[in-house]
Amino acid sequence: MDHKVTVVGAGFVGATCARRIVEQNLADVVLVDIMEGYAEGKALDIMQAAPIEGYSTKIVGSDKYDKTENSDVIVITAGLSRQPGMTRDDLLKANAKVVGHVAEETSKRSPEAVIVTVTNPLDVMTYLTYKRSGFDSKKVVGMAGILDSARYRWFIAEEMGVVPSQIQAMVLGGHGDSMVPLPRFSTVNGISITELLPEDKIEAINTRVKNGGAEIVNLLKKGSAYYAPSAAAVEMVKSLLYDEKKILPCSAYLSGEYEMKDLYCGVPVRLGKKGIEEVIELDLTEKERSLLQKSGEGVKSVISQLEI
Ligand code: LAC
Repeated sequence: MDHKVTVVGAGFVGATCARRIVEQNLADVVLVDIMEGYAEGKALDIMQAAPIEGYSTKIVGSDKYDKTENSDVIVITAGLSRQPGMTRDDLLKANAKVVGHVAEETSKRSPEAVIVTVTNPLDVMTYLTYKRSGFDSKKVVGMAGILDSARYRWFIAEEMGVVPSQIQAMVLGGHGDSMVPLPRFSTVNGISITELLPEDKIEAINTRVKNGGAEIVNLLKKGSAYYAPSAAAVEMVKSLLYDEKKILPCSAYLSGEYEMKDLYCGVPVRLGKKGIEEVIELDLTEKERSLLQKSGEGVKSVISQLEI
């Protein structure tokens, strides 16, 4: 296999990412976790499923970074996950320490890689990854919009009794309570949901999407979502590795787009081999734009608490 992906953090999100990558034969994977034996154990378990599932890509686990050299893509999932009652921002201090270290260790061994950050608080950790890796901002991107949009798609599909694959949706902004679902850009096979659903139903779905992560945390009681988050991260990995140039909502560095500067925030981007090829600026209504900017301001205020 001539594609190599490093996944840091062998918890539920990281291990499920690694598993999806090898199951789809996308790349060989190096799974890293500081807990001795943990990543190695998970990697061995996943490889032992290969004869049954039929994949030929390989996964190795390690508690060190040496094997990660010359990766094409690095996925950072390391850090604590949300517990009930905890906001994403509560995680800030603990996870900043972890993510800063991981960004340094991985970027110096794979200077050509693109980094996908998954750890919460997402947009802030992505900004920190950008700063601590020293990479060009185009080569650092955060996973959130695809997850939030996938939740939106599922709720719309469920409400309408339509197969989920018919639904496309767009959720922008920071990955937090201020995220901005965009009904105008959310469609059932090209028909905007504003044509198909009454306003109060759309409003109810929007609210559920904004609380989508917390809804799962409250149900699980311990830990947070990982099936949909890992699927979303792997969609990004695939678009990067195979130069698919998919247009996806991701957390991207903004330098004036949407009148926002020096932060990471969820916007539509085109993802190709070199990372973010383009930030797509939608023609938003006054209200949509102001919600997006408000969400961005929220991210910025958390960034200002970071010691970078
Ligand atoms: C979620 C958490 C992990 O959205 O941010 O599921």
